Amino acid sequence: MEASQPTPRAGDPCAIVIFGASGDLTKRKLIPALYNLTSYALLPDKFSIIGVARQEWSDEAFRDQLGKDLATLGTQPVDQKVWNYFRRRMSFCSGDFADDKTYDCLKGSLEASEKDFGTGGNVLFYFSIQPDLFALVARKLAEHGLTKQENGHWRRVIIEKPFGHDLPSARELNRQLTSVLEENQIYRIDHYLGKETAQNLLVFRLGNAVFEPIWNRRYIDHVQLTVAESLGVENRGAFYERAGAFRDVMQNHMFMLLALMAMEPPTSLQGEAVRNEKVKLLDAIRKPSEEQVLRATVRGQYGPGVIDGKPVPGYRQEPNVDPRSLTETYAAVKIMIDNWRWAGVPFYLRTGKRLAKRTTKIVVRFKTPPLALFGGAESDPIAPNYLVFHIQPDEGITFQVRAKVPGPTIATKAVHMDFDYSQFGGEVPTTGYEKLLYDCMVGDATLFHRTDMVEAAWTAAQPILDAWAEHPPDDFPNYAAGEWGPAAADALMARDNHRWWYAQK
Ligand code: BG6
Repeated sequence: MEASQPTPRAGDPCAIVIFGASGDLTKRKLIPALYNLTSYALLPDKFSIIGVARQEWSDEAFRDQLGKDLATLGTQPVDQKVWNYFRRRMSFCSGDFADDKTYDCLKGSLEASEKDFGTGGNVLFYFSIQPDLFALVARKLAEHGLTKQENGHWRRVIIEKPFGHDLPSARELNRQLTSVLEENQIYRIDHYLGKETAQNLLVFRLGNAVFEPIWNRRYIDHVQLTVAESLGVENRGAFYERAGAFRDVMQNHMFMLLALMAMEPPTSLQGEAVRNEKVKLLDAIRKPSEEQVLRATVRGQYGPGVIDGKPVPGYRQEPNVDPRSLTETYAAVKIMIDNWRWAGVPFYLRTGKRLAKRTTKIVVRFKTPPLALFGGAESDPIAPNYLVFHIQPDEGITFQVRAKVPGPTIATKAVHMDFDYSQFGGEVPTTGYEKLLYDCMVGDATLFHRTDMVEAAWTAAQPILDAWAEHPPDDFPNYAAGEWGPAAADALMARDNHRWWYAQK
């Protein structure tokens, strides 16, 4: 019997203020996502969108530009009636983020939006801006009385990563933010957690009684998490030079996927209950010594190569990149979790740019049966069961089991049981931001990073960053664009008698 789903309510009436409204994220993700929310009837009727940026746009120019962008970058055809409804509710404040006049303009727009569109006093501020401006904008909003929550109205701030550059800077940013905002006003967004299959991880683990009893060191041999991209650094060379693959993707997105995979079941799905378990898991990541880091991690940087049949430059030849750059575009890390459930089970994480293809997967490799009754050595890669979560681009789940090959002899082969998300109804292709924006509008912070989670993730990352800084790489570039990363990453697995999961499915 199908379980009935409660009909979710639309978000609270609110004004959505986007700082950095002329930037890429606004046109590629935020406006398309807000538009898509109308398809699910989850956007409140009483809403407005106020853009803030240095760009000298009038309200009309802002509306026209984002209308054009939506037509080309949205995930579904634009219904003019719906768009006109949006347009009317959009306005723009032009100004510098350090200038008090910008906030006076914003105050005026918020008052107009309350009057014209009944948004009440609720305001969602989205910081789609450079991280070094987060603290400034938060402070200015507070000084202008715009973050005050009174008369039952909320004021919430969504912040995009990076949440600091290392543990001390993350702590400092948290200190600055929490000096002007309450913890319950800060929504640190992680777009990976908005992905359908990422959200499905907990449902799969905890909604199916057959998996729960085997989700531990007794039955699981190891886990692999891969976030592979075929794109290079594009026009983000200057940013990436300071970040690198570990800070850009592993320390945040991948640690959060790891938390979803490995955390203890929460006592409820309430935000704090889930986040408490995530913090505990992050705290349990072993802090390796320098020597252990050098043995259990691999850094890489791509040289020139071929992607999709076309030659592409190496990282050091990308715009705004130092021709002798030592920034890693690939990272592989073996992580141990020192808790009762996972003692002794390695988690291998890898991410990189300009790899052979774009794919994000979590692979759980189970232990082999106690006796090799049907032949096949224990190390035979097809012998064990694998459970693969395909996070993107082809969302789904594969369970690899062993089955008998038809015929008179007992020969066995790995076969796949596949679940394909695309056959599962999703009416509208999403940007990944819909759920997160909606959650913020209803005050559900479950999928957002809490201050202590950010600090726990940096605490786990810091020994790796420190050891890497002490020992700069001397072999860059060490993989060609279009390959699967440096040979050392295969060697890391081979030392433990494992290999990366490369299969298509
Ligand atoms: C971002 C990183 O957080 O995630 C980018 O800054 C990366 O470098 C991106 O490309 C990957 O996201 P997705 O959703 O395309 O896998």
